[in-house]
Amino acid sequence: MDNKFSRRSFLYSVSMLAAGAAMPIPANAFGQKKKLRVVLVGTGVRGTSFWGKRLVDQYPELLEFVGLCDSNPGRLAYAKTYMGVDCPTFTDFDELLEKTSPDLIMVTTTDSTHHEFIIKGLKADIDVLTEKPLTIDEDKTQDILKAEKKSKKNLIVGFNYRWSPYMTKIKELLHNQEIGDITSVDFHWYLNNHHGASYFRRWHGLADKGGTLWVHKATHHFDLLNWWLDSDPEEVFAYGALEHYGSNGPFRGENCRTCPHKNECDYYWDITKSARDMKLYVENEEYDGYIRDNCVYRHEIDIYDKMSAQIKYANNAVVNYSLTTYSPYEGWKIAFNGRKGRLEAWLDIPYMNNSNLSQEELHAAEMDQSRKDDMVHEPLVVHKNFQDFKIIQVGSERGGHGGGDKRLHDKIFLNPDAPDPLKHAAGLRDGAMSVLVGVAARKSIKSNRPVKIASLSSIKPSPNRA
Ligand SMILES: NC(=O)c1ccc[n+]([C@@H]2O[C@H](COP(=O)([O-])OP(=O)(O)OC[C@H]3O[C@@H](n4cnc5c(N)ncnc54)[C@H](O)[C@@H]3O)[C@@H](O)[C@H]2O)c1
Repeated sequence: MDNKFSRRSFLYSVSMLAAGAAMPIPANAFGQKKKLRVVLVGTGVRGTSFWGKRLVDQYPELLEFVGLCDSNPGRLAYAKTYMGVDCPTFTDFDELLEKTSPDLIMVTTTDSTHHEFIIKGLKADIDVLTEKPLTIDEDKTQDILKAEKKSKKNLIVGFNYRWSPYMTKIKELLHNQEIGDITSVDFHWYLNNHHGASYFRRWHGLADKGGTLWVHKATHHFDLLNWWLDSDPEEVFAYGALEHYGSNGPFRGENCRTCPHKNECDYYWDITKSARDMKLYVENEEYDGYIRDNCVYRHEIDIYDKMSAQIKYANNAVVNYSLTTYSPYEGWKIAFNGRKGRLEAWLDIPYMNNSNLSQEELHAAEMDQSRKDDMVHEPLVVHKNFQDFKIIQVGSERGGHGGGDKRLHDKIFLNPDAPDPLKHAAGLRDGAMSVLVGVAARKSIKSNRPVKIASLSSIKPSPNRA
């Protein structure tokens, strides 16, 4: 990106959502006049923080934790202290259901187990909220579809990425037909050597636990694509390989703490420096043998670390997608080609960031912000055919997945009745469709053939999701 951007006009935009929650508080998200009784199953890092402590801190008048569940009793005891709650704890989910009568079950266990708790919750006619991915394969997806059909209650899928102002701005521009109907998309996601490697240290490195990164990670990306394009994926062709981690490593150890190769391994990670990880994982290894700082070169790793797919949508848009897991930087790029022009967006690409803009312009942009102290501004480019391009600066928070996390919470717990013109709220169909793209990619790699999404479940792809 060169400095010519600084000579161009700057549109200054903050999503409506970025202005923060401003709606009156209803009875609560689930239509009740008392506090919402919530339970959490899976008291690991995501459960205890985002769906745990944050809810306790942010919405004390709206909800109360009435039970926590985890198969690891040590982690469960730590979770209670960390979250600052005083509710009963259970290692048996059936007992939790029997004794706590919750209004909402929040599922934050290992991906391969989500379906168990979703199905039990829906069968008991209790609302369920699950972390992504919905599940890891097509059979479990179909079982969940059946369970929701028979249930009086609903499933929410926590797709936080959709809610960031930057992602929202892309949706708004596409929705408003700024560049006309979309015919093709290039979408590339780069995980750096730190974040990327973290998926190879624990259960995510095993296909039967996380469904490979085609599902565990790419579910976010496929959901964004489905939502942005407002169409269902129809067919997937993919390549993938494991070329860097796992058995490809030059050496391996039992785990980082005890490894004889500490001094020569680029991936050496000292978990003992993180008090939280020690308390959450290391101090509870005795109960289930869950090792958080496993070797990224261990032989049992059976997922892909290089992934590339072509996805054809029911509205005829075609997508070129890739996921890289050992990049020197963390970031992503997308380009939408439409009948009337092109939209380009990217985040965190070091060679394309705001530092290429003049300080004066940056300052002007910042001064125009109501919440400049905690906002950053990221550009996206709209280039209409036969016209000059324009740059739109989108303001959003750095943390919490670009501000997506807190907006997702507010929608669910604080402002459930707020208008949703861009269809941010995600349910079962969205969860299923994003997982099925990853499942199709896995099947395509194995069979070396394109795989039809319609062959995987009872959902039939539709050109227009509305
Ligand atoms: N949306 C996001 O940005 C985001 C970010 C991180 C994690 N996640 C998702 O959150 C979930 C949890 O991830 P994490 O990083 O906290 O993992 P984690 O390993 O720290 O926690 C998982 C917890 O589930 C427990 N568990 C596993 N199987 C169980 C069972 N059968 N019954 C009861 N408890 C069981 C484990 O003991 C552990 O405490 C995953 O589904 C992950 O994909 C989402």
